[in-house]
Amino acid sequence: MKAVILAGGTGTRLQPLTKIINKHLLPVGFHPMIYWSLNRLKLAGINEILIVINQKDLDSFLELLGNGEELGVKLSYSIQEKQGSGIANALKCARSFVDDKFLLLLGDNLFDDDLSPFIEDFRKGEYEAKVLLKEVNDPERFGVAILNEINHSIEMIIEKPKNPKSRYCVTGIYFYDSHVFELIDSLQPSSRGELEITDLNNLYIQKKGLHYDILKNWWLDAGTYEALFEANKHFFEKGKV
Ligand code: G1P
Repeated sequence: MKAVILAGGTGTRLQPLTKIINKHLLPVGFHPMIYWSLNRLKLAGINEILIVINQKDLDSFLELLGNGEELGVKLSYSIQEKQGSGIANALKCARSFVDDKFLLLLGDNLFDDDLSPFIEDFRKGEYEAKVLLKEVNDPERFGVAILNEINHSIEMIIEKPKNPKSRYCVTGIYFYDSHVFELIDSLQPSSRGELEITDLNNLYIQKKGLHYDILKNWWLDAGTYEALFEANKHFFEKGKV
């Protein structure tokens, strides 16, 4: 299975750190942040990876990772022309790379779970998409999944609700089939002018195609100062890998 990592964006909540350095190149433990997503994918046996980045960061990514040979993966890059137009819009850059079921990672999502069982389940499954959830104390920061635990399904996902009705956040680890691009084409921009990943996932729910699993181990979205600090502490304590 192939994977796509989104590593563009503006990194607004980490200004001024992200003024000249892309968020995914900031230090986390002993490596730049992007290393951890690549490491998780490699450990799960995924070698063919597309990284979606901003034009201005291409040279830095090429210098750091090149074609991935040193890490033992096969990397290619795609340039996201418009920043701040939403995760679903950035995913459009992967249209010619994807030929089958694939895994999408937001490059600022750091986690300890092994992805292999989820990949295996999605590969074999008859369903079209899957999200991974995590129980958190601050669900209002994320897409929040309302679950129907009786038939193990998601009833709805609400993006950053003021009064969350569940503590299950939708993490930035998504599995889709190649029809995802047709669904993205049918999306309308949200009130903040973005093509929202949550709207895309809700379309899958309407088609009864969205499965879920729950992460058991440490996870965070390193997009804020507090989270970046916590991520550094976590990976520093793990030592050099
Ligand atoms: C994005 C998604 C949100 C998801 C989160 C996971 O939020 O919009 O649904 O829960 O990633 O990290 P963002 O971090 O872009 O605000």
